[in-house]
Amino acid sequence: MPSTPSPHRVLFVCLGNICRSPAAEIIFRKLVADAGRETDFEIDSAGTIGHHEGAPPDPRMSESLKRQGYTIQGRARQIHAADLERFDLIVTMDESNLTDVRRLDKTASLHSKIHPFVGFCRDHDDLRVPDPYYGGQRGFDHVIKLLEDGCGGILESLEKA
Ligand code: 4NP
Repeated sequence: MPSTPSPHRVLFVCLGNICRSPAAEIIFRKLVADAGRETDFEIDSAGTIGHHEGAPPDPRMSESLKRQGYTIQGRARQIHAADLERFDLIVTMDESNLTDVRRLDKTASLHSKIHPFVGFCRDHDDLRVPDPYYGGQRGFDHVIKLLEDGCGGILESLEKA
């Protein structure tokens, strides 16, 4: 498990930053708030592509999240190399996100900050958080279940200040 300073700066990364990583950010923010640990964390999300820059979360993801009681927030942005310096823990949704984020770390000196999200899941053994973009609404619901599991694991793994 990663060892990070406090406040812990956590960045969730997917491809477009409109489905998986903004949902992870929303879910993790709520978990942190419910635990009364807001001052322990800085939380953000980003995409490896800038195609959806400035867009709110995908309406299908928002619909699934709202049904589970979450409040929607956030606008898409692209990840930049400076994010690898700024954040302590960078969590990627699938193998291609992991490869793309590692590629931004030109000297490979920051690789130890970059972790696959599924490694934090406690109740699921999925190999990745699947991209729900081209699928149906049920795919979004499954992503939320995975994200809730792993976000709980991240919170457990990062010690209280
Ligand atoms: P995300 O989903 O990476 O979870 O935000 C996607 C969003 C956009 C696209 C693909 C996946 N796209 O091809 O534009």
